[in-house]
Amino acid sequence: DGDVFKYYADGEWKKSSSGKSVSIINPTTRKVQYKVQACTQEEVNKVMEIAKVAQKAWAKTPLWKRAELLHKAAAILKEHKAPIGECLVKEIAKPAKDSVTEVVRSGDLVSYCAEEGVRLLGQGTFLVSDSFPGNERTKYCLSSKIPLGVVLAIPPFNYPVNLAVSKIGPALIAGNSLVLKPPTQGAVACLHMVHCFHLAGFPKGLISCITGKGSEIGDFLTMHPGVNCISFTGGDTGIAISKKAGMIPLQMELGGKDACIVLEDADLDLVASNIIKGGFSYSGQRCTAVKVVLVMESVADTLVEKVKTKVAKLTVGPPEDNCDITPVVSESSANFIEGLVNDAKQKGATFCQEYKRDGNLIWPLLLDNVRPDMRIAWEEPFGPVLPVIRIGSIEEGIHHCNASNFGLQGCVFTKDINKAMLISDAMETGTVQINSAPARGPDHFPFQGLKDSGIGSQGITNSINMMTKVKSTVINLP
Ligand code: G3P
Repeated sequence: DGDVFKYYADGEWKKSSSGKSVSIINPTTRKVQYKVQACTQEEVNKVMEIAKVAQKAWAKTPLWKRAELLHKAAAILKEHKAPIGECLVKEIAKPAKDSVTEVVRSGDLVSYCAEEGVRLLGQGTFLVSDSFPGNERTKYCLSSKIPLGVVLAIPPFNYPVNLAVSKIGPALIAGNSLVLKPPTQGAVACLHMVHCFHLAGFPKGLISCITGKGSEIGDFLTMHPGVNCISFTGGDTGIAISKKAGMIPLQMELGGKDACIVLEDADLDLVASNIIKGGFSYSGQRCTAVKVVLVMESVADTLVEKVKTKVAKLTVGPPEDNCDITPVVSESSANFIEGLVNDAKQKGATFCQEYKRDGNLIWPLLLDNVRPDMRIAWEEPFGPVLPVIRIGSIEEGIHHCNASNFGLQGCVFTKDINKAMLISDAMETGTVQINSAPARGPDHFPFQGLKDSGIGSQGITNSINMMTKVKSTVINLP
């Protein structure tokens, strides 16, 4: 069936023996846009076997050669930014410009992995024994980093390409093979990205991209004995995966409820523009989006007014037109967001704009005077709806931030660096941004969540380290 995109295994594009497909619904038209293969468990087994064999040879491929191939893939990826960007527009309704930016950023990330990898992995350690009590200088310990084996990468719908390569780049430079399970929305963009790696000429079987239903191959993949490392970005599923996975390194980036704490001395224009960027870019569908504003009562009216003015200027419509606010990824997501809005309405939040929805498209909404008894104070809408909670003290803000189950990022706005540092230390999140909205990038910065927001730390250097193990050889003198 020529209408169904093939999956990628053993260096070839294949049809699944299931004869079945998975449909990708365009969030804007709400019609089937593309179809991908619904792969079977048997096909997963096959891919795992091939990945294991391919990895052994790849680990022996000189580091500089691995880097060279990655640089080549990065360049090809950038050349393909337009068609891949178009897939992102159709599959996940990301604004056209941002879709292209995601691909370019991904190419840069892959190149950076190659450069970081050759330096990081080109070094080892050398220890002598006589520094530890009771030892003579009779033992020399040589350590270096070796690959883990097969890395399973599961990116989310919101950055199908970028959060796939943020796992693929580190895995490959470190000498691992890679099995990619793309999100359903974003699967075709992922397949096209994998095509770029194919064109770069990586060895057969080193990279596979297997599509299908989570119910059929999801658990089967994550619990597969052939998997030596899982790098996952997404929602709650990550918690379930971490409970079921074997004794292998896990890297998980899950949800967030990133707080924006605004002090009385803050530059309110700067805060307002960061709230717009942080809360509403890609319609709030980022784990690092600003998801709750905690503002000191004395400046709250002024800030809310400034944000309201900027919200009114946001364009709302299809991603093809580069609108700021585009349809959210699915109808169920839109329904969930609406549930949070209704709950806030019932409990007396102040609506700064009228709530408006058309299909999956939700107009940007700022909710003022939100209180802790409202669901929106704690849950992440993953949509263009932002709650404002007015606080009477800094402690109250920190308390709200730390009472969350999440701990991804947070931000604080103040001109007082001493206060900012104290607040940063007190916030139980993986990162605190001072005077800017939360963000993962630049992509070589460490990126991690505390509590339910994740396990391990990402960022190029940390991911390369995480996808390796230390191996020592000790020379014993007589
Ligand atoms: O939601 C995914 C997360 O990694 C966000 O990335 O670049 O939007 O901060 P970014």
